[in-house]
Amino acid sequence: MRSILVANPKGGSGKTTLATHLAGYLASLGRQVVLADLDRQQSAAGWLKRRPAHLPTIHSHQARKPTLQPDWMVIDSPAGLHGDKLSAAVKLAELVIVPVQPSAFDMLATGDFLRVLREEKAIRKERSQVAMIGMRVDPRTRSAAELAEFLLAVEFPVLTYLRDAQLYVQCANQGVSLFDLPPSRAARDVEQWQPILEWLSVS
Ligand SMILES: Nc1ncnc2c1ncn2[C@@H]1O[C@H](COP(=O)(O)OP(=O)(O)O)[C@@H](O)[C@H]1O
Ligand SMILES: [Mg+2]
Repeated sequence: MRSILVANPKGGSGKTTLATHLAGYLASLGRQVVLADLDRQQSAAGWLKRRPAHLPTIHSHQARKPTLQPDWMVIDSPAGLHGDKLSAAVKLAELVIVPVQPSAFDMLATGDFLRVLREEKAIRKERSQVAMIGMRVDPRTRSAAELAEFLLAVEFPVLTYLRDAQLYVQCANQGVSLFDLPPSRAARDVEQWQPILEWLSVS
């Protein structure tokens, strides 16, 4: 089983959006996917409950059958994940995705988090790979340039920038992902996801 952890110390940075989309994408490829929600707010678990039954199945971690042999586990995490809980989550994950928004508060908190993350044994030993994603980025803005500058100094690769789009909010409300929508609605945003999908290297 392969596993992805989505983590960032800030609430509202886009963790649950990314985790639900990663699960939606992998399920759309016919993979057996478990979505694990470590957040007490249970936003990802709630999204899963709202997911229409006709869409590709994503299994909840809580309700999974013991016989299920998933291909992937996607782990959504709470704001402020640190210490032993962070170490345990990183140890579980082959891939760690860190979203970051173009705001000074988010960049500062993320910078501190990355300093902790790089000292995690699994990351030092390169058993887990980390990548960054710019979230809710409008490339025409000054804050987008500031985010790009911040990310230049980060040792982990930056996969892509995702724009701020109401479609993400609607997906959250409806228990769907971009990958469940007709291309006519989602093509522009799916295109921004391509580097992430390649990074997963799902054969
Ligand atoms: N790219 C985006 N465009 C528009 N809204 C977004 C985007 N990413 C996240 N959001 C919205 O921002 C809010 C916070 O995102 P969420 O994924 O819940 O963050 P976290 O899990 O880190 O707290 C949610 O309402 C979500 O729908
Ligand atoms: Mg969340």
